[in-house]
Amino acid sequence: MKKWKIGLLGAVAMSAVMLVPVFLAGATPSVNAADMSDAGQTTPSEPLAAANPDYIAFQIGNRYGVKDHARYPLKSDVKPFIDSTGSVQVPLQETAEGIGLEVTWDAATNIATLSDGKKTATLTAGISQMTVEEEIIDLPSAPVVQDGNTYIPARAMANIGGWTLEFLSADKGSYMIFKADENYQAAGEVTQLLGASTEQYLAGGLIFRSGSDKAIARGSHISFSGMTTFDENDSIYFPLEECVTAMGGTVQTANGEVTVTLGEREALLNINDKTARVDRQPTASEYFAFEEKDSVVYVSADLLAALLGMNKTVLGEGVIAFTVAALDGYPDQEEAITALGEALAGGTAAASLSGIPEAEHYVALTFDDGPTGQSEGLTARLLNALNERGAHATFFMCGYRVKDFHAVLDRYLPEGHEMGNHTMDHKNLTKQSTEGIHEQVDGNSELIESYADAKPTVMRPTGGAYNDTVKAEMKKSGLPLILWSLDTLDWKSKDAKSVENKIVNNVQDGDIILMHDLYESTYKGVLNAIDKLQEQGYAFVTVSELAAIRGITLEPGEVYSSFPPN
Ligand code: NI
Repeated sequence: MKKWKIGLLGAVAMSAVMLVPVFLAGATPSVNAADMSDAGQTTPSEPLAAANPDYIAFQIGNRYGVKDHARYPLKSDVKPFIDSTGSVQVPLQETAEGIGLEVTWDAATNIATLSDGKKTATLTAGISQMTVEEEIIDLPSAPVVQDGNTYIPARAMANIGGWTLEFLSADKGSYMIFKADENYQAAGEVTQLLGASTEQYLAGGLIFRSGSDKAIARGSHISFSGMTTFDENDSIYFPLEECVTAMGGTVQTANGEVTVTLGEREALLNINDKTARVDRQPTASEYFAFEEKDSVVYVSADLLAALLGMNKTVLGEGVIAFTVAALDGYPDQEEAITALGEALAGGTAAASLSGIPEAEHYVALTFDDGPTGQSEGLTARLLNALNERGAHATFFMCGYRVKDFHAVLDRYLPEGHEMGNHTMDHKNLTKQSTEGIHEQVDGNSELIESYADAKPTVMRPTGGAYNDTVKAEMKKSGLPLILWSLDTLDWKSKDAKSVENKIVNNVQDGDIILMHDLYESTYKGVLNAIDKLQEQGYAFVTVSELAAIRGITLEPGEVYSSFPPN
């Protein structure tokens, strides 16, 4: 039996477990006594140093927490999150440790046992109830296991320990604070120590990668159409008008003077005597430098920071971030923003073999029927997670959903994915007239282009249904037909484990894997499968990349369902 165990704060004078039974059932508690007295592995370790913390705190999406009035890293890859029911989930081990509970997690039965030394509570992953002694108490949500880590609803954890839970939603993000004394004021220290959430940094920020013409401005991917940063005199220079416009400001040039307006801020750049004034303050010219090249004004990093009224942080891999709150010293957020910045492609958007990682096996993940949700919806989160894993995918979009959910359209290409066409209205093309086929496919390509500045390069017929007419018409539309070789049946099972197993147990080198970015279960299942397969030497590429790896040129009107090695 695999168990882990953390120290018991024997000395902590914990008040009696304060539980408000919401629901009391007569059922027999499901505690397995044997699980709770596995002597060999449950002997308490050395009691932790006397600690009776005023509070501990976490932040959604941040893998740092606060205890003993200092920031500390959580176990690797552990981050509090909001589950699909809207409940805040906190890491079991870290939180229990922080508030002085003895905790045992049995990975075989998915049962957590928590004790304050007087009372014992048991919780089971996937079940929205906990048992305290003989009482069964409803929970707002069920404990979950993600990537081998157990999380339980924050509310339940506070109840078990008799702590006051304060949710703090600030302009920097959402925090949760477990307080021993409900009147203790921790908000100021917590926001100071944990910083803003990555989402908040992105929402107001401007993220660049040196040499790329792509950037992330206020949470959206933008392109400067070939205009890139350049280095000169120990500074990086940025295209002024593009940056200011992307941040919602305006730039006007008249008589050798450039006027920059951004919210309340106003700046004046004199091209001839090379002086800059920001908010009427004269600024030292060598510090606030700018250059005019081919009639385009480029400003130094320091001047751009002053114009935007933002903090500048130079991160690794040539990534430069301008953020409202200072980013320095928040390693989790820095790492996340660096990863997003690194993913910004160079001046050319064309897929090439140069960006494909070395791997033993290659497969193409494909997602049909999306997109789903706006800039923080399911597809956006899927893109974030693929980004974190260096995985590419192909998205076969339906026009009727693009109309609703186009916030993600400008992300696919810059982040290395491929755009596919899955008809305007999810119509079976074999039942359409020739004219109808083109309305469904070409109309969708034009709609996608209006948001993504590029048309899809591949198409997938709805239901995989095609005939000679469809092939002939797709040849005219310039699109190859892409079917699949591995069907996850995700729409049918709507079960993350099933999706994961279908992929992991059946995958073969060169497969095209069919999924839909419609379901939370698909999102969870595919990420688990990616994590497992990457360990086995698989890399995830777009359909066109997979064909290129195998030396195949995709031909319009032809049908492809996999690209196995020769
Ligand atoms: Ni479909």
